[in-house]
Amino acid sequence: MTWMVTGGAGYIGSHVVRAFQEVGIPTVVLDDLSSGHEEFVPAGVPLVRGSVLDTALVADTLRGHRVTGVVHLAGFKYAGVSVQRPLHTYEQNVTGTAHLLAAMAEADVTRIVFSSSAAVYGTPDVDLVTEDTPTAPESPYGESKLIGEWLLRDQAAATELHHTSLRYFNVVGSGTPELADTSPHNLFPLVLDALAEGRTPRINGDDYSTPDGTCVRDYVHVADLATSHVAAARALTEGRELRRVYNLGSGDGVSVREIMTAMAAGTGIDFEPEVAPRRAGDPARIVASGEAAARDLDWRMRHSLTEMVSSAWQARQAR
Ligand SMILES: NC(=O)c1ccc[n+]([C@@H]2O[C@H](COP(=O)([O-])OP(=O)(O)OC[C@H]3O[C@@H](n4cnc5c(N)ncnc54)[C@H](O)[C@@H]3O)[C@@H](O)[C@H]2O)c1
Repeated sequence: MTWMVTGGAGYIGSHVVRAFQEVGIPTVVLDDLSSGHEEFVPAGVPLVRGSVLDTALVADTLRGHRVTGVVHLAGFKYAGVSVQRPLHTYEQNVTGTAHLLAAMAEADVTRIVFSSSAAVYGTPDVDLVTEDTPTAPESPYGESKLIGEWLLRDQAAATELHHTSLRYFNVVGSGTPELADTSPHNLFPLVLDALAEGRTPRINGDDYSTPDGTCVRDYVHVADLATSHVAAARALTEGRELRRVYNLGSGDGVSVREIMTAMAAGTGIDFEPEVAPRRAGDPARIVASGEAAARDLDWRMRHSLTEMVSSAWQARQAR
């Protein structure tokens, strides 16, 4: 009952692989290392270096490792950059998913858990996003994730496919210090890199219609998120019915200024952030209910904001 984890050498994927390891489910990683790190794959877990776009390689891997299900995390995740690189984004996230599904059909693998994103909602005008909130992506990235969800749905209508898509909110922290988020565009690594290099972290806009004027987001710990992938894989293996999509959000909003305060406390570095103008396309607030996932996917916030900051800082220092 091996599961293939595409993108398993990346930030979230490497935590997912460890969550499977913890419960004794074997995995194989397929990753082209475009943004992942070979050393993130734990000893004893086979790494197949290649792209999900390579249908023959993927089908061979599925057959060769007797794979029974796939967690599909491989993709291009930079929403801002996707505006400048729409074709690349669509190729990696849409064509990549289509090729993966083709390889799965060829190898008779009928279970998949897909990494989707809060970006499918765009700028929702609600206090708490639920799975019924209308989708309205505002970037090629968000669009590509929504199309990925549709590909799973449509393939399931045409062939045997058991699937669910997990819409992640802001994923932060580290489950273990050797696994850091190395993204050059996410708030946590940006702030921690600035502090480690003696620069002053920056807030993009403090004139939003939020309590302290800075953007409010829903932060979730990567290790908590990883656990839900195992729960989803188990449910699909046992033939339990899952929803087509789940939000992995906490229900709590935290402002960028509150993050800065937590960063100062967690790193022991006293600083006053600079305030820069707003960035285009940043919604004022996006916070989600994770109730459905809590019911079906063992989704719980086991880690506090303090732990998110301190674990991310430890991983940044270990790098
Ligand atoms: N980090 C977040 O906050 C967040 C939020 C919502 C959704 N997601 C989604 O979660 C997934 C994982 O994100 P992450 O933060 O770990 O990013 P990441 O860049 O660290 O991981 C992506 C992994 O996929 C690999 N990859 C990329 N294209 C590939 C391809 N064509 N074939 C094989 N491997 C390929 C990369 O080398 C990397 O190891 C992505 O699909 C991302 O869109 C992330």
